[in-house]
Amino acid sequence: MKDNKNKTYFIETWGCQMNEEDSEKISGMLKNMGYVRTIIREEADVIIFNTCCVRENAEQKVFGNIGAIKALKRKNPKLIIVVSGCMIQQKGMAETIVKKFPFVDILIGTHNSYKFPEYLNRIKNGEKQIIDIWKQEGEIVEGLPIDRLSSVKAFVTIMYGCNNFCTYCIVPYVRGRERSRKPEDIEKEIKELVAKGYKEVTLLGQNVNSYGKGLEPKINFADLLRRIDKIEGLERIKFMTSHPKDLSEEVIDVISKGRALCEQIHLPVQSGSSKMLKNMNRHYTKDQYLDLIKKIKEKIPNASISTDIIVGFPGETEEDFMETLELVKTVEYDSAFTFLYSKRKGTPAFEYENQVDEKTKHDRFNRLVETINSIVIKKNQTFEGRNVEVLVEGISKNDENKLTGRTRDGRLVNFEGNINSIGKLVNVRIIRSQGFSLLGEAICDN
Ligand code: 5AD
Ligand code: SF4
Repeated sequence: MKDNKNKTYFIETWGCQMNEEDSEKISGMLKNMGYVRTIIREEADVIIFNTCCVRENAEQKVFGNIGAIKALKRKNPKLIIVVSGCMIQQKGMAETIVKKFPFVDILIGTHNSYKFPEYLNRIKNGEKQIIDIWKQEGEIVEGLPIDRLSSVKAFVTIMYGCNNFCTYCIVPYVRGRERSRKPEDIEKEIKELVAKGYKEVTLLGQNVNSYGKGLEPKINFADLLRRIDKIEGLERIKFMTSHPKDLSEEVIDVISKGRALCEQIHLPVQSGSSKMLKNMNRHYTKDQYLDLIKKIKEKIPNASISTDIIVGFPGETEEDFMETLELVKTVEYDSAFTFLYSKRKGTPAFEYENQVDEKTKHDRFNRLVETINSIVIKKNQTFEGRNVEVLVEGISKNDENKLTGRTRDGRLVNFEGNINSIGKLVNVRIIRSQGFSLLGEAICDN
């Protein structure tokens, strides 16, 4: 520990919130070993790339970044370079990386990341290179230190892996099968966060609605939400991601009656065409999805609903795409993440012959984004003149005279207020919409 005094690490993370949380755990382990975080890559003693492989462009960026630090390693042979995360779990990827970048010191997958301190010490003691990628998930390891980026809101993983095998998606192959954390471990972690002053948690899992499978005594996601909602001092509970085939009426009901449970649901639709949904192996039709949205809106009238959409999945015709556009207009999403379909080796859709050409994909993507943007802008305008509760996260990135935070339903608000209100809940009057965010002033934050 002592010999790491003044030693620094730099970590770069690609991909989803799960990966961000994994990086916070890697940071926690390094901090425990005496390391300090730096944001200057050139200064670091350890550089970690925590990778994602959901889409091809994420992978290209990782290759570019590893290549770019070759010169650093030549200048400083003691520099330790680590590549971790989902990309490493792909078949053949470790070999590719070692061949392309033989100077990488540690390659570590997603299932054994808790062994990172051991590997780091072994490298420091002279071992040349460590490549350790476990094909299968092991038991959930509890109690790892976490160095969180925010001191106001935290991610809490409630389950790992995915059993769904959507035909485009690599996640089940790199994150393994579903396994849930015990409710008492989750509760303990959240209570500790609250004691430290955290106000909001986001429960994470690839498909949180199937939480609890295999646990004894029996528990489902709705039960877990009820239990967490009782934690005193916790102001906000959010969760992601929900799979439309598994989001139960019971969960919708619990949210509608909840105290800290926020009126925000991320419900990836992926496509508005039932034919595409079938080929994607999503297990719901367009009408079933729309029924679910109707139920949510009936029970939680002020719910904000967000989604993920893929354009250009193999075989998608102009008619299929028009159905996606129609669905987007019907649901009136509050925000949406849009993706160009990306071929992933090892997934069933990789083999499909009817791939959509790049130009058509981009054209549809642009039309979709335009449609979504106009809906989001229109919805944000309805907030002008309204009072909202904001959890203050810090100083605005674009204007240091303003504070920034989010509403219960996830809208970004920049506003004039008291700097002492960072970390607190504040009532804010919205002056005007700025398109994708809201501008306001604190009503009373003393
Ligand atoms: N191509 C494009 N988007 C993808 N996603 C997952 N796999 C792919 C892929 N191969 C998107 C889905 C998912 C989100 C996290 O990433 O929309 O919900
Ligand atoms: Fe991928 Fe589908 Fe699992 Fe989500 S539910 S992680 S899209 S396989």
